[in-house]
Amino acid sequence: MMGKLDNKSAIITGAAAGMGKGVARTFVRYGAEIALIDFSEAVFDTAEELQKEGYNALGYKVDVRDAAGLKNTYAEIAERFGKIDILVNVAGVGDLKLFWEADDEFRDRIFDVNFKGTWNSCRAAVPYMMNAGYGKIVNFGSVTGVLAVDPGMTAYASSKGAIMGFTKALAQDLASHNITVNAILPGMVDTPMLQKSCTEACPEDPQSIKDNIASGIPLKRLGTPEEAGEVAAFLSSEESSYVTGTHIVFDGGSTLPETPATGWSPNT
Ligand SMILES: NC(=O)c1ccc[n+]([C@@H]2O[C@H](COP(=O)([O-])OP(=O)(O)OC[C@H]3O[C@@H](n4cnc5c(N)ncnc54)[C@H](O)[C@@H]3O)[C@@H](O)[C@H]2O)c1
Repeated sequence: MMGKLDNKSAIITGAAAGMGKGVARTFVRYGAEIALIDFSEAVFDTAEELQKEGYNALGYKVDVRDAAGLKNTYAEIAERFGKIDILVNVAGVGDLKLFWEADDEFRDRIFDVNFKGTWNSCRAAVPYMMNAGYGKIVNFGSVTGVLAVDPGMTAYASSKGAIMGFTKALAQDLASHNITVNAILPGMVDTPMLQKSCTEACPEDPQSIKDNIASGIPLKRLGTPEEAGEVAAFLSSEESSYVTGTHIVFDGGSTLPETPATGWSPNT
């Protein structure tokens, strides 16, 4: 059976866990050969898991804050695969602090990973795409900072807003090279990042926080990493050949309610 990513080679950052791992799983199922990037040792376990299932998946331990490390690693991947068709930037951190408690070091750490990490990764991959006259870039932003915010999100929201601006501007710079650049804006997705926030909010019963979040989402559940992978696969395939410089909101409708506090409905 033909897969929509057959004969494509892809790099996925933040691929050890969460949505990056979901993207990795979805991409190999659609026929791509993939390189997984993460600063966690677990990236090797994820790669091995996929190799054991017969897929072509290589693991690389690199911190996306390390621009030189990414440049060297992407050169090695381009050599191994012969090309880099697709880049999916998923690596990110989601720590939250109220503005008056967030010092410069906290702000810079969020920016260094989320925004500069995405920049560094694109900088390392784009030369190969430009040489080939083909490429697909997908950046993971968030509904946070673009469509919605909760308290404690000044640093995180700013970093994700920056990713959206960067995505649009990069799409302009690369359009004449036949490279598309788009973003996915997730809402609430069941990953280790969300689990950590729920555990911090209620150490004795994190599931109750998850259930509460889910109850406020129109689809009444959290998203899954594999569903994020499906959206990334669409934006990385020829199905989206005329789509660039834009975003897909992946949130189960969580940013839809106009009067969330009242739960207003014509039937109530
Ligand atoms: N989970 C959600 O509900 C949600 C919502 C909106 C946006 N997002 C965004 O989606 C992306 C994925 O989120 P997730 O929930 O899967 O996160 P996660 O914490 O579950 O997984 C993130 C992965 O990125 C890796 N990583 C973190 N910092 C890194 C660095 N400096 N270098 C290399 N790898 C690094 C981690 O080791 C981990 O494997 C993030 O950019 C996040 O901000 C998540």
